[in-house]
Amino acid sequence: MGYNPKDHFFKKAKAEDYLARSVYKLQEIDEKYKIIRNSDIIVDLGASPGSWSQYCLKHIGQNGRLIGIDLTDVTVIKDPRYIFYHEDIFRMNWPEELAKLNVQKLDVVLSDMAPKTTGIKLTDQARSLELCQMALQFSADYLRPGGKFVCKLFHSEQFKEFQIAMKKQFKRVEAMKPDSTRKISKEIFLIGLDKI
Ligand SMILES: C[S@@+](CC[C@H](N)C(=O)[O-])C[C@H]1O[C@@H](n2cnc3c(N)ncnc32)[C@H](O)[C@@H]1O
Repeated sequence: MGYNPKDHFFKKAKAEDYLARSVYKLQEIDEKYKIIRNSDIIVDLGASPGSWSQYCLKHIGQNGRLIGIDLTDVTVIKDPRYIFYHEDIFRMNWPEELAKLNVQKLDVVLSDMAPKTTGIKLTDQARSLELCQMALQFSADYLRPGGKFVCKLFHSEQFKEFQIAMKKQFKRVEAMKPDSTRKISKEIFLIGLDKI
């Protein structure tokens, strides 16, 4: 069967009031690796249109906090636990912004960031890797020991190299292609557990 933009997960997301079908990828990862907990402080990199943020808000309880960032605005989520930055991650002044929010360390860093695809495989893979490297550096700077990291990568020859970089930061590193990922997609999720 070919690509169907309105597949089962698309319809399910609509029925359950999620902003995107990609929520089910995070749900599968979370159910398997227990990423998100009550009262967590989470950063959602590449948050728009907002389904991962919606999922997090459902699972962090009243004392949790969520910080989202994206090049594209997230306008529909209104929640006192949610701060959203309409910004490029490469331009973000994290030390200043996190200090303003009085956040020192994070429990979870999520990155579903993806470049605008050009159709040129090597270019798209290189840009995806660059976003993942940025997310991993962010996690090195702000994730607490024991914290968790989830990152989407377009599969490429650099996959192993990136996994090795993650292994320097996390006691356990897993790779997963959730069932809700479209069959034609080359994306893979890397999960870092128990930050050193
Ligand atoms: C697949 S979407 C994320 C979907 C989101 N997780 C959800 O569930 O709604 C990927 C996002 O990465 C964002 N992105 C790509 N490059 C970025 C950058 N340099 N800074 C911030 N966001 C970026 C894109 O704007 C896009 O919205």
